[in-house]
Amino acid sequence: MEYDIKNPDLAEQGLSRIEWARQEMPVLDKIEETFAKDRPLEGIRLGACMHVTTETANLMRVLKAGGAEITVSASNPLSTQDDVAASLVVHQEIPVYAITGEDDETYYRHLNAVLDTEPHMIMDDGADLASTLHKERPNQLEAMVGGTEETTTGVIRLKAMAADGALKFPVVAANDAQTKHLFDNRYGTGQSTMDGVIRATNYLIAGKNIVVGGYGWCSRGIAMRAAGLGGNVIVTEVDPLRALEAVMDGFRVMPMADAVGIGDMFISATGDIAVVDTHHFEKMKSGALVANSGHFDVEINIPGLRGLCDADPQRPRPFVDQYTTRDGRKINILGEGRLINLAAAEGHPASVMDMSFAGQALGARYLVENQDILGDEVYVIPAEVDQEIAGLKLDAMGIRIDTLTAQQAEYLSSWQHGT
Ligand SMILES: NC(=O)c1ccc[n+]([C@@H]2O[C@H](COP(=O)([O-])OP(=O)(O)OC[C@H]3O[C@@H](n4cnc5c(N)ncnc54)[C@H](O)[C@@H]3O)[C@@H](O)[C@H]2O)c1
Repeated sequence: MEYDIKNPDLAEQGLSRIEWARQEMPVLDKIEETFAKDRPLEGIRLGACMHVTTETANLMRVLKAGGAEITVSASNPLSTQDDVAASLVVHQEIPVYAITGEDDETYYRHLNAVLDTEPHMIMDDGADLASTLHKERPNQLEAMVGGTEETTTGVIRLKAMAADGALKFPVVAANDAQTKHLFDNRYGTGQSTMDGVIRATNYLIAGKNIVVGGYGWCSRGIAMRAAGLGGNVIVTEVDPLRALEAVMDGFRVMPMADAVGIGDMFISATGDIAVVDTHHFEKMKSGALVANSGHFDVEINIPGLRGLCDADPQRPRPFVDQYTTRDGRKINILGEGRLINLAAAEGHPASVMDMSFAGQALGARYLVENQDILGDEVYVIPAEVDQEIAGLKLDAMGIRIDTLTAQQAEYLSSWQHGT
């Protein structure tokens, strides 16, 4: 078996952390039971480009139980947990191509190693596999049953491809399931982003002006958790509805150009480019911390900041690059502008990934079962599947809910009742 990981000797440590995460992933365990029985992915070669974390390792176990033949590469150069990569290779016998800190050239070499297996299905986090497949390997498209996509940014890219008529296989947008973005993007990103910022800096949040870029699913969670730690949260937005929501949630809202003069810490999670741009850095306070939790590292214009400095940055701590501008200010970029929750912390807690990855596993099954009727489009997981995942999660948490009585069901479906 070929693979490219840092060190297979780390496998035992990886396994013990994977098992730790598994305790918080009961929904995946349930799906594994049915997958092992039904083998819905029998004969499917599956290429995954995902963050190589303990939670992903648990998903891979379930997909393998379902019959898939899997190869994995990393969806981010900094997020790979090398011990997990080792355990996937040693214990699950899954070829992994991922080494933490890999450069761009290695990243794409690894991604291409996955595509060399000629997958029938891909599981993407950011749409890099789908994009490379379409741009560089059109001859492999014919064999594709479909793909799934984990994150907002990837879904946006894939929808753009579909709108251009460029998408050549069906994709399930796992991100768009309610049981994904309501919980993973909001509570997962909210908590783990603050965890990443704190691990990287050990700064106190209380009393600081924390500027949050965006008020979408992820940034709402970040604003909520930063406020919970005592930060004075300022939100920047481009969408009036979301901006209004932030105002009514009790946050100050203003343009980034105004926020840069007062912010102590900036955390962007928009999926957009240059949300913190060169002209913002020109006005930023000395000592400011700047982090990103959006998918790509383009939200913060780091080359623009470098252009304001004579020298390369210093690294006073891991995950902190301190730039000194020509006018003597010190600006700190965390985690090289990459997803801070995965770079400096461990990504989302297993409990939320349990639901996100349930959507991935059931999305894969949905693609196989419906391959004859699906077109070259981006699909949302059917509402019943979302309900099934939420029901399994509640069961696992020991929480029971009411069911509609016959009278209530009739009332809610009728137009006859009035005052
Ligand atoms: N860190 C993680 O682990 C993690 C997890 C899930 C998603 N993501 C990524 O986070 C990003 C956001 O995802 P989401 O689900 O919150 O998306 P979303 O669409 O719900 O929210 C994005 C928000 O950013 C706003 N925005 C866009 N450009 C802006 C700008 N220039 N200034 C201010 N606001 C702007 C939009 O109006 C929108 O409200 C995506 O890149 C997604 O892939 C990261």
